[in-house]
Amino acid sequence: MSKRIEFGDFQTPIGLANEVCALISKLGYSPRSILEPTCGQGAFLQAAIEAFPSAEKVVGVDCNSKYAEEARQRILSSTTPTNAEVLEGDFFQTDWNLILASLSTPVLILGNPPWVTNSTLGSLGSQNLPLKTNVDNLRGLEAVTGKSNFDISEWMIRESLSWIAPKQGMLAVLCKTSVARRVLSYAWSHDMPITSSAIYRINAKLHFNASVDACLFCIQTGVQHDRHECADYTSIDAQSPQAIFGHRDEKMVADVKLYERTQHLFGTGLTGWRSGIKHDCSRVYELEPNGSQWKNGFGQLIELEDDLVFPLLKSSDLAAGRKPRKWVLMPQGSLSDSPEKLKYIAPKAWNYLSSHSALLNKRGSSIYKNRPPFSIFGVGPYSFSPWKVGISGLYKKLVFVPIGQINGKSIQLDDTGYQFACNSQEECDALAHLLNSETASDFFRAFIFWDAKRPITAKLLNKLDLALLAKELSIEGSAVQNLADRQVLPYSKTQQQPSLFP
Ligand SMILES: C[S@@+](CC[C@H](N)C(=O)[O-])C[C@H]1O[C@@H](n2cnc3c(N)ncnc32)[C@H](O)[C@@H]1O
Repeated sequence: MSKRIEFGDFQTPIGLANEVCALISKLGYSPRSILEPTCGQGAFLQAAIEAFPSAEKVVGVDCNSKYAEEARQRILSSTTPTNAEVLEGDFFQTDWNLILASLSTPVLILGNPPWVTNSTLGSLGSQNLPLKTNVDNLRGLEAVTGKSNFDISEWMIRESLSWIAPKQGMLAVLCKTSVARRVLSYAWSHDMPITSSAIYRINAKLHFNASVDACLFCIQTGVQHDRHECADYTSIDAQSPQAIFGHRDEKMVADVKLYERTQHLFGTGLTGWRSGIKHDCSRVYELEPNGSQWKNGFGQLIELEDDLVFPLLKSSDLAAGRKPRKWVLMPQGSLSDSPEKLKYIAPKAWNYLSSHSALLNKRGSSIYKNRPPFSIFGVGPYSFSPWKVGISGLYKKLVFVPIGQINGKSIQLDDTGYQFACNSQEECDALAHLLNSETASDFFRAFIFWDAKRPITAKLLNKLDLALLAKELSIEGSAVQNLADRQVLPYSKTQQQPSLFP
């Protein structure tokens, strides 16, 4: 199995390869040559030979000799006579310039490059990477892509695009939608001569048993169009795109029409939105009430100073409109605060945390290094505001939820949720009303790629200027003014809930 993962060896079913080629043909593209750089058992070669009978030359390459031979046999048995060859070769060592020189334009490069990330390759000890990264322990490729984790298909697609960018060509490959966007972002920011581009979403679960957002990614090259836009179709046979995403003002936007309609609401340097509590040890910090005691994730019953325990609204609760089901132990009131003072002011909590010090000191994230023992993150005066508006960063839902208190205690969010602190219910209602408006929703949807791991982030939320939004919606009043001020000024410490934390 590990070899299969290392080489992204998930062969395309012939039905899907046929659908892809039929679409390319329907788009009016008629290649004189066809190249598949990682052709595997040759489904795409077979489909392309049948769909484009006038192609003069077809070349396939794969590093797996068995597959190369299978692809050869498949082509030989094809009904359409074509000048076709299949070579055994490693993508990273093949002389592509030599091959490209023998192909007349327009060229079609198609296929399904391996979907495997460099971190997976690292864990398998694999060398299936561009040559220069082998010697440099993957850092070379990171330097090229600017990312620490990426798909090698991204590298291969970028390379393939560079071969045809100066000439008339088309690239049509199956890949993750995030990879397609990154390749386009790279091409647009380097002013590569892209004529047009589109993604057609495919059901990766159905075709490859992979739970990932994937697409057929088509780019036509040769004549530069500087519109920097890509049509996003829900399927290969969709008649019109569901959205057009693209580069605007050096940003990747998910819907250029919505962006153009709402960009005047864009603010810079705004704050106000914060993520919730990060502790990386739910079994210790997250609790359920049990009479006068608390029960932790180990099922242990414990006693704690009441002032330190707050209701916790998890992202899943937020998205489902549920009330908090858990409580969270907050050993500090801000990042500059140290849990060590619990020794003196809250000995029960200190003893409880100390009894789990082996586990807590082992928390893997580097953020805990050089921090006082038992520290948590995502905590500050805003955590203790009496009212908040919250949203989950993980769920594909743009719903802003007003959040009050429970038993006079501020409700905390987990680190996958985002909150905007409010001083009063009036502020909270006004904020939820503003953010749940159609205008605000259009503004956010202009930027949100719903297939991203975390579609909603504090960075995105802080792009919306509340003062401009309120003006557009003709909403006035001191509550709205306070909220707008809070986007530029920090939440006032004097407003924080009385607690053990001064
Ligand atoms: C996702 S499969 C797709 C196969 C074929 N293109 C298809 O659509 O059915 C990926 C293919 O890439 C090949 N491959 C992986 N790494 C390669 C490399 N470095 N050079 C050439 N081929 C490679 C694998 O052997 C495998 O056949």
